[in-house]
Amino acid sequence: MTLRRTKIVATLGPASNSPEKIAELIKAGMNVARLNFSHGSADEHRERARLVREIAEQQGKHVALLGDLQGPKIRIGRFADGPIKLEVGDHFRLSTNHPLDGGTQDIVGLDYPDLVKDCRAGDELLLDDGRVVLLVESVGRDEVRCKVTTGGPLSNNKGINRRGGGLSAPALTDKDRADINLAAELQMEYVAVSFPRDAADMDLARKLLRDAESDAWLVAKIERAEAVADDVALDGLIQASDAVMVARGDLGVEIGDAELVGIQKHIISRARKQNKTVITATQMMESMISSPLPTRAEVSDVANAALDYTDAVMLSAETAAGSYPVEAVEAMDRVCRGAEKQPVSKRSGHRLYQEFERCDETIALAAMYAGNHFPGVTAIITLTESGYTPLIMSRIRSHLPIFALSPNSQTLGRVSLMRGVQAIRFNPAEMAPSDINQTAVTRLLEAGHVKPGDWVILTKGDVYNSRGGTNSMKLLHVGERLV
Ligand code: G6P
Ligand code: MG
Repeated sequence: MTLRRTKIVATLGPASNSPEKIAELIKAGMNVARLNFSHGSADEHRERARLVREIAEQQGKHVALLGDLQGPKIRIGRFADGPIKLEVGDHFRLSTNHPLDGGTQDIVGLDYPDLVKDCRAGDELLLDDGRVVLLVESVGRDEVRCKVTTGGPLSNNKGINRRGGGLSAPALTDKDRADINLAAELQMEYVAVSFPRDAADMDLARKLLRDAESDAWLVAKIERAEAVADDVALDGLIQASDAVMVARGDLGVEIGDAELVGIQKHIISRARKQNKTVITATQMMESMISSPLPTRAEVSDVANAALDYTDAVMLSAETAAGSYPVEAVEAMDRVCRGAEKQPVSKRSGHRLYQEFERCDETIALAAMYAGNHFPGVTAIITLTESGYTPLIMSRIRSHLPIFALSPNSQTLGRVSLMRGVQAIRFNPAEMAPSDINQTAVTRLLEAGHVKPGDWVILTKGDVYNSRGGTNSMKLLHVGERLV
């Protein structure tokens, strides 16, 4: 069977914590396990991480861990007598000195004092992902007075966004700092930063991770209106990250659903152009929380993201809390494979008229050009230390599988997020330099990925196990004696 190129990120939670479920998710095609630090204790995450590592190893698969920081989500407090129901035209106040447990029909507490400073009369506040909308009428010293413009039920701890963005909470909370240390302890390959405003937020997260001796790659969640206000803001955030996530939940609330799809396509394309991976997230198979089959609209959503060349599609509540976690991964697997059959998924006109900046990038891109244009080629093999060479390769559209060969476990996990890249453990230092090509090709032959008579392209550098050194590309004829 052909290899799926688009990767699947699945969130673990109560519905998928058992060793059996994790085994089934990996078998169904989960490439990256997302641990959501907004829920669960450190020990629960330790246990999940341990199980994923152990079971992936048993199945001979490489599955990356992605730790998703909670970030400064602003939330209302709790209600004294259970959920309330707001009607259009009701008056309602958000107060920073009202008891957090003492919400009523008229007022609720809030543990984010700056809301009062950030808000102006005329602003629109969206509660519970926009299910309830409040129009700010006036702002007092410690409260925001609003009128309800979209009514509905409101229960404890629901999130607050402002239409148009602009709430000033810093991206990394004390809890996030603790979770960064946990991510380092668990040797996670990826850490996602929630609500980053700009490059400085990403730089701080990176510094904290490096201080904790983690080598994790950083994912910027694009979920504030400011982040997509113009290309300068967006590119700045992308540049400061290793990957981005189109975090459609909060982003959709801040910018409105009408523009969301266009912006999603734009983010995917900007990220790929800047050599970063991109994950498309939120509600992709939402109805599968309670149904074994996706809707046509969901199928279309996943397929369109795959056709737009996202690296990965993501499942949240579907796998964390739903009734059909394994079916959700299977559905994504099926839909991505279907989309990948389309010619648009296989050809590339990318960078044909551009200059390259580095030797290793030049080799990586030349390999893709050669592979895409020489019909006998059935696979690309790249020896990699950090995952950088396959990252550059996988920015180019192609039907060819890219096999990333590395001795480094973190790198094997890391490349599991990249579109079209398959991880294979391989240590060139264990063999004579003259045996490397033959051994690498034999590994692919034995696994059934290539057959005698095929051509494969192999890239590497003169020195083994050093990053950035790729300087050669070779066309190898499978079945002949290779040197
Ligand atoms: C391995 C190979 C080297 C190659 C390097 C590229 O270490 O043995 O020959 O230069 O990968 O690694 P990179 O991290 O730049 O993809
Ligand atoms: Mg979010």
